[in-house]
Amino acid sequence: MAGFEINDVSKIYGGSSPTETLSHIQLHIEDGEFLAILGPSGCGKSTLLDILAGLQPASSGEVLFEGKPLTGPGKERGVVFQDPSLYPWRTVFQNVELGLEIGGVPKPERKLRVQKYLDLVGLKGFEHKYPHHLSGGMRQRAGLARALSNSPKVLLMDEPFGAVDHLTRLQLQDDLLTIWQAEKKTVVFITHDVSEAVFLGDRVVLLSPRPGRIRSIFQVRAKRPRKRDDVELLKIQQDIYATIHEIKTEEDLEFTI
Ligand SMILES: Nc1ncnc2c1ncn2[C@@H]1O[C@H](COP(=O)(O)OP(=O)(O)O)[C@@H](O)[C@H]1O
Ligand SMILES: [Mg+2]
Repeated sequence: MAGFEINDVSKIYGGSSPTETLSHIQLHIEDGEFLAILGPSGCGKSTLLDILAGLQPASSGEVLFEGKPLTGPGKERGVVFQDPSLYPWRTVFQNVELGLEIGGVPKPERKLRVQKYLDLVGLKGFEHKYPHHLSGGMRQRAGLARALSNSPKVLLMDEPFGAVDHLTRLQLQDDLLTIWQAEKKTVVFITHDVSEAVFLGDRVVLLSPRPGRIRSIFQVRAKRPRKRDDVELLKIQQDIYATIHEIKTEEDLEFTI
């Protein structure tokens, strides 16, 4: 079965003062699901995504992908970070092409695939520009095209729109949903923006402050395409804010999300 099975995963970073960052995470991520993970800064969101990407091991517990334990990174899991880290000396086209080039994909097929995904993310006409000619949102689109060009089954996205202006961010969210539906990927999307999580996700997992534990999972059943002012979405946002308030009260914590 495709999808992830996260079984009792904890993460403790070592060093002179070991800190528990994730605590007993138990979660099934369905094949084709759009899962949003929401949590305050420092609660271990990036750590969890890195574990799913195979970039770090869990300290205990295990992660299965398609029924098999994860042992490291894999092409079927594409990662998109907040900073797309494009090579400044390569054009947009060449940046997107790089992974395929390294993977030994023949040139004619590379050209077709790169062009397909650049078109899909809305970068047609910008193929031969260099990264410094692009806006932040366009650089993020290039990062997305690069991840898609490997034809992953899963997109693991770590606050990918965190650094772009608000209106661009809304457009990127719409476009990501269109791509998700067209390409039938599983998406795990980390954010600390409540409205973004609810607008995008089939489910929203709310993590508690460090060590990150699953506090609540919110189902978002609103039909797609969704409207941002849909009362159902607004109600879920309210429920999430209420839970965040509860956590703050219980733990007597000062945190913002
Ligand atoms: N490689 C690392 N070594 C030691 N501590 C780390 C490492 N990566 C993250 N941490 C710590 O783990 C905690 C959670 O980090 P992170 O997963 O980046 O949280 P988030 O993405 O939710 O902000 C932070 O306190 C951070 O300092
Ligand atoms: Mg992070």
